[in-house]
Amino acid sequence: MDKVKANMKSCLNPVPKVLVSCRGLNGEENALAVGYCGNCSYDPPMVMVGIVPSRYSYHMIKESGCFVVNLVDSKYQETFIYLGSHSKKNEDKLAIMKVKLEAGKVVNAPILSDCPVNIECTVVDSIITGSHEMFIGKIEYVHGDSKLVSKDGMIDFSRINFL
Ligand SMILES: Cc1cc2nc3c(=O)[nH]c(=O)nc-3n(C[C@H](O)[C@H](O)[C@H](O)COP(=O)(O)O)c2cc1C
Repeated sequence: MDKVKANMKSCLNPVPKVLVSCRGLNGEENALAVGYCGNCSYDPPMVMVGIVPSRYSYHMIKESGCFVVNLVDSKYQETFIYLGSHSKKNEDKLAIMKVKLEAGKVVNAPILSDCPVNIECTVVDSIITGSHEMFIGKIEYVHGDSKLVSKDGMIDFSRINFL
């Protein structure tokens, strides 16, 4: 394989494509597309999401100290793209896209009902890495589509048609 020097930005690819949902202290709800996301601890279970401070959601997550990571399947592509290219600064995008929400079981943030897996998290730390602030989320509760979850709670990710 012949190699040449390549661009360094966002060069870890492919990345998960998730929707992160949140609720501000005033009760308003929002969700944005996030590609800077990953597992960061097995025990205790933790994930991290990277949010740019100019996002409307950033202050909501900072204030509430929690968020939900929603895994997205291909049927939700249009909604994913819309939520990742429009800001709550300008419009109520959840209402425009008729996004179905339910209250989180543990954290003060909504889950997206039409996503097959929803991971409720409490922020335990954050690191400003550069363009993004990485929020470390302790996983408090995982909702999985009953068709995908075995008796012992394992999610069959191979049956999700990811974006
Ligand atoms: C594929 C994709 C991945 C994205 N990844 C991130 C990300 O990791 N972090 C981030 O802050 N914004 C990311 N964005 C951009 C936000 O989703 C977008 O700016 C959104 O409109 C912010 O919404 P808000 O201002 O209502 O919070 C991504 C957008 C797309 C389409």
